[in-house]
Amino acid sequence: MPFYRDHIYPHLVNALGDPEPIREIRQRIIPLAQGKVLEIGAGPGVNFVHYDPVKVEKVYALEPNPGMIRLAEPQRRISRVSVEFLNLPGERIPLQDGSIDTVVSTFTLCTIPGVVAAIRGMGRVLRPGGRFIFFEHGLSPDPKVQRWQKLSEPIPFRVFQGCHVTRDMPSLIAQGGFTIEQIESAYLAKFPRAWSYCWWGTAIPQ
Ligand SMILES: C[S@@+](CC[C@H](N)C(=O)[O-])C[C@H]1O[C@@H](n2cnc3c(N)ncnc32)[C@H](O)[C@@H]1O
Repeated sequence: MPFYRDHIYPHLVNALGDPEPIREIRQRIIPLAQGKVLEIGAGPGVNFVHYDPVKVEKVYALEPNPGMIRLAEPQRRISRVSVEFLNLPGERIPLQDGSIDTVVSTFTLCTIPGVVAAIRGMGRVLRPGGRFIFFEHGLSPDPKVQRWQKLSEPIPFRVFQGCHVTRDMPSLIAQGGFTIEQIESAYLAKFPRAWSYCWWGTAIPQ
């Protein structure tokens, strides 16, 4: 349903995607970005305000949904860093090998259909010594919560356009060719536990 995807879904993500304590964690991890940054699935641009203009040269904001780009445009205008939109999916990153210092993904790996291919692409564009900053939700370590996640997955999948709540992000990041440097996890936000188990941290290409 293109109307839902391009008009309603972007407003839903904009309205629900940045509650406390999620915002507080964005404020802590996004300023770790430096140099040339690739943000995958930038959505309505809620991270733009958190980039440190002293450390960041430019942000390539890759986002395939034109409705998201429309919402992100005012954020781009008020951002203290230069932001260029790339209107493509994460499986097709249009940047040269080793050309990026930092890749950022927040609440996007849950939705990318070819998630491991996209993570490998992030590793391809990162320069040696570059860093991946992630903040994602997914599979809880608690078997009881996992049961609810498996049962309820069709709801976020429909409402949030392909969002999976049962992806094991640390494993996928490792399968995509990264070593995790730092990671924290917790149930965040006011959503049910089945939809709110999150990890945040950094990883480097293997
Ligand atoms: C839940 S939103 C997260 C938006 C934003 N990163 C945030 O933290 O609020 C998921 C985003 O992933 C984008 N997306 C969906 N499929 C994608 C793909 N194949 N490659 C890159 N981004 C994708 C969606 O358009 C959407 O903007």
